[in-house]
Amino acid sequence: MRRARTGGDDRKILRQDGNLFQRSGEGHEKIGTIKFNANLKQKTQVGIIGAGPAGLTLALLLHRATIDCVILEYRSREYVESRVRAGLLEQNTVDLLHELGVANRLNKEGLRHRGVYLSFDEQRIRIPFDELTGGRCITIYGQQEVLKDQVQACIEKGIEILFEAEVTEINGVATNSSSLVYRQNDEQHVLSCDFVAGCDGFHGIARTSLPNNIYNEFRKDYPFSWLGILAHAKPSSDELVYAYHQRGFALHSLRSETVSRLYIQVDNDDRLENWSDDKIWNELSLRLQTEGFHLNTGAIFEKAITPMRSFMIDNLQYGRLFLAGDAAHIVPPTGGKGLNLAVADIKWLAGALIHFYKHNKEDQLQGYTANALRRVWRAQDFSNFMTYLFHKQAAHGSFEYNLQKSKFDYIRLSKAYATTIAENYVGLKDI
Ligand code: FAD
Ligand code: DHB
Repeated sequence: MRRARTGGDDRKILRQDGNLFQRSGEGHEKIGTIKFNANLKQKTQVGIIGAGPAGLTLALLLHRATIDCVILEYRSREYVESRVRAGLLEQNTVDLLHELGVANRLNKEGLRHRGVYLSFDEQRIRIPFDELTGGRCITIYGQQEVLKDQVQACIEKGIEILFEAEVTEINGVATNSSSLVYRQNDEQHVLSCDFVAGCDGFHGIARTSLPNNIYNEFRKDYPFSWLGILAHAKPSSDELVYAYHQRGFALHSLRSETVSRLYIQVDNDDRLENWSDDKIWNELSLRLQTEGFHLNTGAIFEKAITPMRSFMIDNLQYGRLFLAGDAAHIVPPTGGKGLNLAVADIKWLAGALIHFYKHNKEDQLQGYTANALRRVWRAQDFSNFMTYLFHKQAAHGSFEYNLQKSKFDYIRLSKAYATTIAENYVGLKDI
C-alpha cells in the first residue's frame, strides 16, 4: 500500500459569468474565462464523466427517478460501441439490465450458463452453479452489446450523451457549485452540476483530481498478461473452460454459436507480432487439451494483449465528486468481475443520489464508499484467487505448483469449496 501522489483542483471556482477563479491566500484570483455555448446544456443535476457500463447504467437509473444528468464521453459513439472487452455478466447485472428495460436483445442473444469447467494438468471438472447457488447463473453477452443497448435507450429517453467531449477540469466539488470543463470540436465548454460522477475508467481524470491525502492506493502488477482473440469459430465447449497447463493458462469463452473468445497467458513483454494465427491455435489446443476435447478453429478477427493488475483506492468520494467502476478499481480479468463491479458500484451510488434528492439527506452518499468497497474487496480476493489458481507462476513441480494442484484437488473433493467458488463466480447476492 502507498499514499496516492496526485494533486486535486478543488481550489478552482467557476462563476456564472464564465470567469474562473483560483483561491490564493485569503482571496480569489481570476485565472481565466470560459466561453458558454448557448446551444449546449449548461446545467444539470449530475454530471457524468464516461459512457462505459458505469456511466450509462447510472444515467438510466437517475433518469428513471426523474433526476437530470448529462454524460460527457471522450470517445466517439462508434468507438464506444465497438471496443472489445468483457463478456461475462453476473446474475445481479442481468437482473438490473432487465429492471432498466434494456434487456430485449440480451434475452434473445445472451447465453445463459449453468456451470463452468475447470481444468488442471489436462483433468477437467465441472462446477454446477445452479445446483450450488440455488439456481443462479451467468450470462455471456459482449460488453459492447450491453453498451449499444444502453446508448440506444439513453437516446430514446432523451438522456443527453455528448460524444467526443473530453473533460479537462473538475472544479468546485468541495463546495456546492461543482462544474466540469470539457472540450468538444476544439471548443471549451462548461457544465455546472450538483454532483460529479467519475465513471471515466482507469485512465480518466476523476481519480487524478482527488487531493493527494484523502485516500490510500493498493496496487499489484502480475508477471503475466493475456493475449485475447475473437474468432469466427464454432465454440468448442458449451460452457467456459479455465485451464492450468504447464505451458500456461488458457480460457475458452464464446460470444455466439459462431464466435469464440479465447485467451492465453503470455509474458508481459510479449508482442502480438510474435503470435501468428497458427501459433495461437496451436497453443490453445495444447493448453485446453483434455480427453475427448477438440478445439474448433477459424478466422481470427480481433487480437489484443492486456496486462493483469489489481488496483484500488479506499475512498471513492471527495465532496461532491464520486468515483465508480474502473476509475476506482481494477481486478485481473480471471473470473470476469470488472464490468460487474462497475455496475454494482452504480447501484449504491444511484440509490444514494436518489435518496438525497428525495429526502434532502446526505447519509447514504456518505456511506457510499463503505458500501461499495465491501463488494470490491470480495471481488479483488476472488479475482486474485482465480488468477493464482490457474496461471503458471513458477516451474512445473515447484512449491507454488503443488499448492495450485492441491487447491484443484480440494475443489474436486469438497462440495463446500466448490460452493465457495460458485457463489463468488455468479456474484454474491447480498453484499
Ligand atoms: P470504462 O468502460 O473504461 O469506461 C470509461 C469511459 O470514460 C470510457 O469510454 C472513456 O473513453 C471515458 N473517459 C475517460 N476519460 C475521460 C474524460 N476525461 N472525459 C470524458 N470521458 C472520459 N472485464 C471483464 O470482466 N472481463 C474481461 O474480459 C475484460 N477484458 C478487458 C479488456 C481490456 C482491454 C480492458 C481495458 C478491460 C477489460 N475488462 C474486462 C474490464 C471491463 O471492461 C471494465 O471493468 C469495464 O469496462 C469498466 O467499466 P467503467 O464504466 O468503469 O469504465
Ligand atoms: C470472459 C472474460 C473473462 O475474463 C472471464 O473470466 C470469462 C469470460 C469473456 O470475455 O468472455
